[in-house]
Amino acid sequence: RTARFTLDPAFTVAQVNPRLFGSFVEHLGRCVYTGIFEPGHPTADEAGLRQDVLDLVRELGVTAIRYPGGNFVSGYKWEDSVGPVEERPRRLDLAWRSTETNRFGLSEYIAFLKKIGPQAEPMMAVNLGTRGVAEALELQEYANHPSGTALSDLRVAHGDKDPFGIRLWCLGNEMDGPWQTGHKTAEEYGRIAAETARAMHQIDPGVELVACGSSGQSMPTFAEWEATVLAETYDLVDYISLHAYYEPLDGDVDSFLASAVDMESFIENVVATCDHVGARLKSKKKINLSFDEWNVWYLSRTEAEVSALDWPEAPRLLEDNYSVTDAVVFGSLLIALLRHADRVTVACLAQLVNVIAPIMTEPGGPAWRQTTFFPFSQASRYGRGEVLDVRVDSPTYETKKYGEADLLHATAVRAEDGTVTVFAVNRGRAEPLPLEVALNGLGLTRVVEHSALADADPDARNTLAEPERVVPHAVEGTQVTDGRLTAVLEPLSWNVIRLA
Ligand code: AHR
Repeated sequence: RTARFTLDPAFTVAQVNPRLFGSFVEHLGRCVYTGIFEPGHPTADEAGLRQDVLDLVRELGVTAIRYPGGNFVSGYKWEDSVGPVEERPRRLDLAWRSTETNRFGLSEYIAFLKKIGPQAEPMMAVNLGTRGVAEALELQEYANHPSGTALSDLRVAHGDKDPFGIRLWCLGNEMDGPWQTGHKTAEEYGRIAAETARAMHQIDPGVELVACGSSGQSMPTFAEWEATVLAETYDLVDYISLHAYYEPLDGDVDSFLASAVDMESFIENVVATCDHVGARLKSKKKINLSFDEWNVWYLSRTEAEVSALDWPEAPRLLEDNYSVTDAVVFGSLLIALLRHADRVTVACLAQLVNVIAPIMTEPGGPAWRQTTFFPFSQASRYGRGEVLDVRVDSPTYETKKYGEADLLHATAVRAEDGTVTVFAVNRGRAEPLPLEVALNGLGLTRVVEHSALADADPDARNTLAEPERVVPHAVEGTQVTDGRLTAVLEPLSWNVIRLA
């Protein structure tokens, strides 16, 4: 059977916020050390930043980059990470049973963003696990105040004359999770988040703040957590966060392929909860969603990996090597975010380099693209503009976790110049999926390109030995005739169809 949908410029979702293509750099494993930062590497610049990695980060097309954690931030002392490098202390990182050298810190993070280019924006988390309002204010003053106060002058003395201008701030990380250092109840967190937000607005009413939502839809406190936190913070914050990671459990690949069903319901449930609190408060304000951690992550392997550590520096941790199947699920997660671009206005792929990442590196050696690199770079490049409303009529398949799921998952984005890009996933493992799209009133007459990520071996991956084993390929035969697009989506494939 053929999958179908209609595109019409009268039916739209929203403009895509560029922040939807954000990412995340945490002091975890080798994301920072030997990832983005490796003094002595043949491509390192004077600041120790790897140019081979910077090139790939630019090609990936990331925008807001969240920092410095993650679970790491709940023990973070920002003062350790500034000033002369040789005077910076070594600390225990409780989150990842590692030793943090603080060789890379706040100033280096801002320098890294500047080197990526103007599209990169800071998204800084404050520690609300072991610390509170005072330390958040001190960090904000150090980072953003021009000069003439103790902390802003300290930044200038450290060599950063210009303020960092950090606008987007996360009020802690995953405070609902019992694993979080300084874990809190919703009431406790709601109060400290509200007081931190109020105080940060006293320094600068223009900052944008993200309150912690749930670490996942399956958390026992899910929804009640959001409602309680927002009851305290509704007028003070701009976003509530969502985190979600997916992996195939017990070999159930069919459910794994439908992971975006869960992601979309998570988003819709958080929107409902935000709007419920807004209705209770009789507020006209809408809280938007910051999906600031999402990815495929083989999380079930991680606990043993971490507990075996004996405080090493920058160990190999969470270095998942992604297959074609993983990349198709990953692409489908991107489609889910785009389909909800009206309320998801920030999203961060967790993470950027080495740690569950699209970019891998070898210390002293090369950097390369994982399979997941391609859906992200294509979505960031062609997913700018207005999301069109896509309601698919698709053949379905049976999954253990989500019941009947559509074989087709799709969205479409219309750029300012009128060109349209369809992003589509065929979740079917065995059969190609014929696709027909009615193109109403869009003036589209031709296919510019149909690119697909698929492989006869769904387990194929890129590795140090074979870094370009999997790359997207061109698909022939896709056509626009009389206002109708016809295509065939290969089994288990991520597709980008550009129309003009
Ligand atoms: O991204 C890895 C970890 O996942 C983050 O540190 C934490 O916030 C989440 O549990």
